[in-house]
Amino acid sequence: MSLNEVTLNLPNYPMEELAKIRQRLVQAQKKVFDFGTGDPKIPTWEPIRKAVLETLPSISQYPSTRGCPELVTSIWTYLHRHFGITKDSGFDIAASNGSKEAIFHISLCLVGRAGGKRIIGYPDPGYPVYRSSALFAGGVPYPMELKAENGFQLEPWLLPEHVQSQMAALWINYPHNPTGATMTEAHMDKIIAWCQSRDVILLADDCYIDIYDPSWDAQGKRPPSPIQKTSHNVFSFMSLSKRSGMTGYRSGFVVGDAKLMPALHTARANFGVGTPTMIQRGAAVAWADEDHVAERRRIFAKRIDMAFSYLQKLGLIDRKPEATFYLWARVPQGWEDVDFCLKLAEEGVITSPSQWLSEGIKGYFRLALVPDEKDTLEALEILTRFVQSLKV
Ligand SMILES: Cc1ncc(COP(=O)(O)O)c(C=O)c1O
Repeated sequence: MSLNEVTLNLPNYPMEELAKIRQRLVQAQKKVFDFGTGDPKIPTWEPIRKAVLETLPSISQYPSTRGCPELVTSIWTYLHRHFGITKDSGFDIAASNGSKEAIFHISLCLVGRAGGKRIIGYPDPGYPVYRSSALFAGGVPYPMELKAENGFQLEPWLLPEHVQSQMAALWINYPHNPTGATMTEAHMDKIIAWCQSRDVILLADDCYIDIYDPSWDAQGKRPPSPIQKTSHNVFSFMSLSKRSGMTGYRSGFVVGDAKLMPALHTARANFGVGTPTMIQRGAAVAWADEDHVAERRRIFAKRIDMAFSYLQKLGLIDRKPEATFYLWARVPQGWEDVDFCLKLAEEGVITSPSQWLSEGIKGYFRLALVPDEKDTLEALEILTRFVQSLKV
């Protein structure tokens, strides 16, 4: 075999499929409304860009994988402000090159732990890297289907006994891509208690934790993270991509159990994941400010409100999500999700079918509210006409 089995059997990264459709439409000179990839085109806050430009060095040196002092200080201030944790409360941090690489690499440190446990559990639908990283690390990926009936909540205590006992780590992702679901503190307490009773490392993909309904701010409410509850056997993965519109910069961090972090630091020094220092300096500015994030929340909330009311009128969605910038809607009755999205794409509106964001979940499609309000409105009119035309 030319390359190993894991590599040869990888499915096409779904976003690449969407990019191909998009290109075809552009070549045909069709106006494209791209709700496919979660990469909103809102300008990055100017002081962040300025910090990056001003710190471009004349002499280039290797960046710190742990984070430059300015970034480390800024991250601790952010963590204390929102989650009440400090360096002295049992946590340590590691800068990451966006959260994707950290999510990918952590499996290499987890598969085989605790006497040889190899199962990595994760939500389905969900971010595809949970699965691929488990496979590349020689682990056993275990998708856990999320269902609308219980608000898309994970319930690992319902898994078969052999799965519970062999699980090395469990991913949670609330606010959740693609459903927009959040987790209550009470449910999070249950998840933490289950992980601790089963010696499972809890991995919280918290990259949407700052993207929630802006009316929560006045109530002092935020989506919870397990780091507020305990440091024991917990890692949280945070990112500036969605919070600060910095997808192209690649900056995030891992915060977690200080007992486990020294070994993780040593491992990460091998992975080649140091973020360029000028990006780290821009990231320090981003974590220190909340106003530009509040502005992004307002923008996303407006788009969610608008799109939700259109989809609700069409009978494709029931509950408005309180976080993220995604809508997870049912495809019209009698339609298969991939067919529906491909047909809709021909009208110029690109969305993602549930089968491309999951391991076989059918009947839904995701809108990532990336286009601006004007284009969103135009696209929703096209979508409405298209869905209505299916009924006649
Ligand atoms: C659920 C989830 N986790 C992680 C990521 C990775 O984001 P980044 O590497 O830009 O921080 C994404 C990106 O879309 C995501 O949707």
